Amino acid sequence: MTPVSIGVAGASGYAGQELIRLAARHPFIRVTTAMASGSTDGARTLPALTGVWDGQITPLSLDQLAAETQAVFMTLPDSVAAEVGPALVARGVRVFDIGGTFRLRDRALRHQWYPAAPDLETPVVYGLTEYYRRELVEARLVACPGCYPTAALLALRPLIDANLIDGDVIIDAKSGISGAGKKPSERTHFSECHGNVAAYGVLGHRHGAEIEQELRQTVTFTPHLVPLDRGLLATSYVRVRPGVDGAAIAATFASAYANAPFVRVRGDALPEIKHVVHTNFCDIGWKYDAASRRLVLVSCLDNLVKGAAGQALQNLNVAFGWDETAGLS
Ligand SMILES: NC(=O)c1ccc[n+]([C@@H]2O[C@H](COP(=O)([O-])OP(=O)(O)OC[C@H]3O[C@@H](n4cnc5c(N)ncnc54)[C@H](OP(=O)(O)O)[C@@H]3O)[C@@H](O)[C@H]2O)c1
Repeated sequence: MTPVSIGVAGASGYAGQELIRLAARHPFIRVTTAMASGSTDGARTLPALTGVWDGQITPLSLDQLAAETQAVFMTLPDSVAAEVGPALVARGVRVFDIGGTFRLRDRALRHQWYPAAPDLETPVVYGLTEYYRRELVEARLVACPGCYPTAALLALRPLIDANLIDGDVIIDAKSGISGAGKKPSERTHFSECHGNVAAYGVLGHRHGAEIEQELRQTVTFTPHLVPLDRGLLATSYVRVRPGVDGAAIAATFASAYANAPFVRVRGDALPEIKHVVHTNFCDIGWKYDAASRRLVLVSCLDNLVKGAAGQALQNLNVAFGWDETAGLS
């Protein structure tokens, strides 16, 4: 089979490099075109990937991407993706965006959180693979979910779909610093983060809107930065409806993810970040107190893999009709 030609726009960033690392070992694709900003002169290489992928990164060119590739992964700042994504789709390229620009379906919310986001005629598929496999097959533009939403949604969607939750949903989440990208800021540079834990975006983080969209209910979402380079853990607090027992909760998760190769349902054995880093797994565990009906769920993943590049590749596999695990197991 002739490999499918792939472009990566944003190839020098954290998510872009992870994408290339995974794509280089994928049996059915070839990264022909890797681009970033034109902010430095000449082509660049990725020293960390020497021997894995020895291509060059060149300045972003829509014409070149459209001419050389059948599908493009965008790991770009949102305002750049807002222009590049629709332009590539219009030229027949299938686009998998890892950023947030196209994730929110509600126009007002989209403009609130992503002011550069255009109004599109192309339908956008939200790329939480486990819930949108059918839509992905025809998709031209895929908005891959954020890392926090992926962890929270995989833990909560089975309960929402089975109508088991009674009342509020609270999500307390912690992410490693690579979640903020490679450009350091006052919040993310080493001497701020080392030895520190900080909440941010409290009652006002754009991933809260994304989680609410997919759960169809209000949530209280509090993200934290923790001094890890990668990995993300979300603890979700809910109360379940009267009459729901531990066996019903376990059966709900077992059935929701019976055919999901990258969701590991752990039950009582609570997952940890070290169990999932450098993999495309999201692990989910929980503890349930039947007397009070309180259910505490813990889900975790690698923000750069299942939270970004790995899930995007999983979406590409489904969109092209290949085994969902190709290049990821
Ligand atoms: N990091 C994560 O864990 C994670 C998880 C889920 C989703 N995401 C999303 O994925 C996207 C990329 O995140 P990241 O963490 O990989 O960011 P990053 O490390 O900051 O990388 C950004 C990439 O975009 C390129 N770029 C910047 N401005 C550009 C321009 N004007 N034209 C062309 N290329 C440009 C950069 O190239 P230069 O090297 O030339 O600057 C770099 O390759 C973001 O939308 C982010 O929200 C990230």
